[in-house]
Amino acid sequence: MAIQDDKMKPLYVSVLEYLEAQMVQDPVYSWILDETRVRGVPEMNITPEQGHILNLLATLSGARRILEVGTLSGYSGVWMAKALPCDGKLITLEVNEKHAALARDVFERAGVANLVDLYVGPALETLKTLQLDGPLDMAFIDADKQNNWNYFSYAEEHMRSGGLIIVDNIFLNGRVVAAETDYMRDLDNFNRHVFARYGSNVVSIPGYKKEEDNLDGMLIVRMP
Ligand SMILES: C[S@@+](CC[C@H](N)C(=O)[O-])C[C@H]1O[C@@H](n2cnc3c(N)ncnc32)[C@H](O)[C@@H]1O
Repeated sequence: MAIQDDKMKPLYVSVLEYLEAQMVQDPVYSWILDETRVRGVPEMNITPEQGHILNLLATLSGARRILEVGTLSGYSGVWMAKALPCDGKLITLEVNEKHAALARDVFERAGVANLVDLYVGPALETLKTLQLDGPLDMAFIDADKQNNWNYFSYAEEHMRSGGLIIVDNIFLNGRVVAAETDYMRDLDNFNRHVFARYGSNVVSIPGYKKEEDNLDGMLIVRMP
């Protein structure tokens, strides 16, 4: 569902460029994106606007213990880790060693390595043995979408009351809305399940990634 309308697309792009020009951000974020490109790691990271939102949500919720599923290059991880207090922890899970190697360098460069535990392996396996020293305050789910149900259940089970579960890519460029394959129907069912179960404790922020002409969005759930 790329934006077809001749007027809407330039409008979206100009609004995002306007925002990017105003937003103040640490130069480390553009370094991470450059390094991701140079090292041939897929550019599947969240947008800078989403990064600001994750950082703000972690700050507002006073998060000390954050779980991330899907590290990639550590871009979203740095946004969240920078909101942690000095005794906080980002626990981030990644299956791909090449992505994890870049993420390690990124966490060092961003000065947050002491706040991050990075586990390499299939997240479902890692979660089976993960030892948490207390309940989670926030979780960001952004890995293999067919496991959204499993990751979300884990986060529900380990989240403190008032904590936040955030799921990225809930529209997959409109394909989840069209729901024409079993995979998309499953993701659609997942979204509907979360909205039905958590009602007014759920919000979604749709977002446009101009580099990919891609309309997607995040789901944010506050645990009652
Ligand atoms: C969309 S990217 C994550 C982007 C990252 N959160 C960011 O915005 O910077 C998804 C990542 O999940 C990883 N992944 C996919 N399946 C996984 C699994 N079963 N367990 C752990 N990580 C997985 C991929 O290798 C990829 O690095």
